[in-house]
Amino acid sequence: MMLMPLLLTGGAGFIGSNFVRDWFETGGGPLVNLDKLTYAGNPRNLEGLAPGAQHTFVHGDIADRDLVSELLERHQISAIVNFAAESHVDRSIHGPEDFIQTNIVGTFRLLECARAYWSGLPTGRKEAFRFLHVSTDEVYGSLGPSDPAFTELNRYEPNSPYSASKAASDHLVRAYHHTYGLPVLTTNCSNNYGPYHFPEKLIPLCIHNALAGKPLPIYGDGQQVRDWLYVRDHCSAIRRVLEGGRVGEVYNIGGWNEKPNLDVVRTLCAILDRESPRSDGRSYAEQITFVKDRPGHDRRYAIDARKIESELGWRPSETFETGLHKTVRWYLDHAEWVRQVTSGEYRTWVATQYA
Ligand code: NAD
Ligand code: TYD
Repeated sequence: MMLMPLLLTGGAGFIGSNFVRDWFETGGGPLVNLDKLTYAGNPRNLEGLAPGAQHTFVHGDIADRDLVSELLERHQISAIVNFAAESHVDRSIHGPEDFIQTNIVGTFRLLECARAYWSGLPTGRKEAFRFLHVSTDEVYGSLGPSDPAFTELNRYEPNSPYSASKAASDHLVRAYHHTYGLPVLTTNCSNNYGPYHFPEKLIPLCIHNALAGKPLPIYGDGQQVRDWLYVRDHCSAIRRVLEGGRVGEVYNIGGWNEKPNLDVVRTLCAILDRESPRSDGRSYAEQITFVKDRPGHDRRYAIDARKIESELGWRPSETFETGLHKTVRWYLDHAEWVRQVTSGEYRTWVATQYA
């Protein structure tokens, strides 16, 4: 267990805030959480952490060299876990600029600060230092129906401004290890779902719209395939890689759980029909509506997770059915959180995207 603080970036977002909870619930030490609080970052995601949690929240940008350098020195950081990113493919299609700024320039500045700080550490601490970069399976591009799942050796073929910016950041992380020896680790994970997921992404959007009596928008024919992983399983995988991953290596993380989007939404409707039936007794599936496809929409992602399983003994603990059930229950029990995040800027986005 690390006694020196961890610097987590983007820890007020969906996966980052779940990681913070997971970290303290599993006995993790002090953690400094640097987040810019964009539309996707929400301090309420961090309410009610485990008793005794040594959590320091800092409002700021990973691209701010002075702030990041000062945090590394002041807190004598032992590892960085970089979640901070612009993360929504559809937003990257409407406006790629922020994606370039945070995902590429931001990661570059964070790496520069990490390199300067790490170079000055005494030998033992220098060897123990880690920079873990959290990335996505989308960097590998799109698979055909019978192609094998992505391994860590697949070529990078990003197709959206989002995945291209994440690919660029992965390359920078790799280069800082190869050129400067910075002890980096990279994880590429499939689609996450679970509590605190901003309702612009498929699963929380459909839960929100279903309950509000609105259409459940399915892009194109709904036969695009994603691999789905419960967010806490992603968090446990990152902890395992941080503890035991080999420096300079890449680990793919996934749930062996490929599903076409239409099946995901139908399963979601069936759970909602049981947990919160419509007042007219009909199924939420009647709200499914096919809409114009996303430009350049990747057809299929699938993760081969054998490396992390065999090297680090990690396995997901939720099935899609148990994870989705927990997720639906969480949204039903947290209507106030949903109400808060779906006001203001969110409404403007929905009006633009689904016009
Ligand atoms: P999110 O959009 O919910 O959260 C991103 C967080 O980063 C927000 O709190 C935001 O305020 C913060 N942030 C943005 N720009 C920042 C900056 N310049 N400086 C500091 N903080 C900043 O995203 P998420 O879904 O939680 O994804 C987290 C990471 O995991 C991302 O790097 C993403 O690429 C990766 N990832 C996500 C998924 C997924 O399914 N959501 C899957 C694989 C990998
Ligand atoms: P999303 O949750 O945006 O994640 P990603 O694009 O990173 O995979 O989308 C998941 C899948 O659902 C993707 O194939 C696009 C599709 N989708 C819809 O069909 N309708 C929607 O309204 C949204 C947001 C996504």
